Amino acid sequence: MKIVVTGGAGFIGGNLCRWLSSTDQVSEIVALDNLATGFRSNLDGTEAVLVEGSILDPDCLDECFSGADSVIHLAARPSVPRSVADPVPSHEANATGTMEILEAARRAGGVQVIVASSSSVYGGNLTLPKSEDLACQPLSPYAASKLATESYALAWQSSYGLPTLAFRFFNVFGPLQPPRHAYSSVVPAFLAAAMEGRPLPVHGDGEQSRDFTFVDTVCEVLTIAAVRSVTDPGPVNLAYGSRTNLLELITHMERLLGTSLAVEHVEPRQGDMRHTQADNTKLVTLFPDVTPVSLEAGLKLTIEWFRSRPDLLEMATIG
Ligand SMILES: NC(=O)c1ccc[n+]([C@@H]2O[C@H](COP(=O)([O-])OP(=O)(O)OC[C@H]3O[C@@H](n4cnc5c(N)ncnc54)[C@H](O)[C@@H]3O)[C@@H](O)[C@H]2O)c1
Repeated sequence: MKIVVTGGAGFIGGNLCRWLSSTDQVSEIVALDNLATGFRSNLDGTEAVLVEGSILDPDCLDECFSGADSVIHLAARPSVPRSVADPVPSHEANATGTMEILEAARRAGGVQVIVASSSSVYGGNLTLPKSEDLACQPLSPYAASKLATESYALAWQSSYGLPTLAFRFFNVFGPLQPPRHAYSSVVPAFLAAAMEGRPLPVHGDGEQSRDFTFVDTVCEVLTIAAVRSVTDPGPVNLAYGSRTNLLELITHMERLLGTSLAVEHVEPRQGDMRHTQADNTKLVTLFPDVTPVSLEAGLKLTIEWFRSRPDLLEMATIG
């Protein structure tokens, strides 16, 4: 099989290319990335070939998709605060970019497209757990653009018969997730602070909770979805229904690092949801053979990776 991973040099993309490299059914991997927030080095040790280009360039997409069996579309401008500060580029990358991908998949003869939406689409809907049939209430331009991502993918399925699958990722964490983005995710931001002996920056009271998903679990589900050409007419949560608040997350980190950690409470982030927790019924029905990596085990692997990369803390802030 030939698989194209857009955003392949990013955090999830790099891990996915490593996962696909050790999947027997996969013989060719193309990682398409413009390196906006990704790194060439994320593909070290994988069999992926990096094509440096944009998902907004139809000619580049036609070249990459030729002969492909599946496209796993992860490329995006992936941050809530960045979208609040500057919404148009988020729309262009996440909404227009997805439409370009779907059109290119059609031109290539109807290649399967798997897209990455986000739990942020639930936004202001406070019901827990989040089942896919809840009303969506995006609270940020990023969330609105991700609702467009999944809506386009599903509309191309019903309008043109394109085989598509739309996942809603929750808080994915693990190796390759950089601590030096201007708007880092919470796990790398906390680990970087802990390694540098700084107080951990907690937005708000720290009681906000997340359904943390280790990146290998996401990669395993994405790989099975591509290899088995799984499609579904509706969105599918890709998280397993756990709920950990940030203060509990810090307690886990203290135990694994063997030290107590100071905390500094800072301003809540605009557009952030208070709680997320997936209803995983649909996911488990579609992928019954996947056992998720536990938070504790995933954190342990992430800390090991952090310790193996002291250069990360020397990097300048990007994004
Ligand atoms: N990490 C999470 O917790 C999470 C949660 C929900 C959804 N998602 C979604 O998962 C996907 C991957 O996220 P990530 O955390 O790996 O982020 P990331 O920033 O590491 O990866 C995104 C990649 O897309 C690339 N990219 C951006 N614009 C591009 C363009 N125009 N053309 C080609 N490449 C482009 C970037 O260079 C980067 O390598 C995104 O779609 C994101 O919205 C992630």
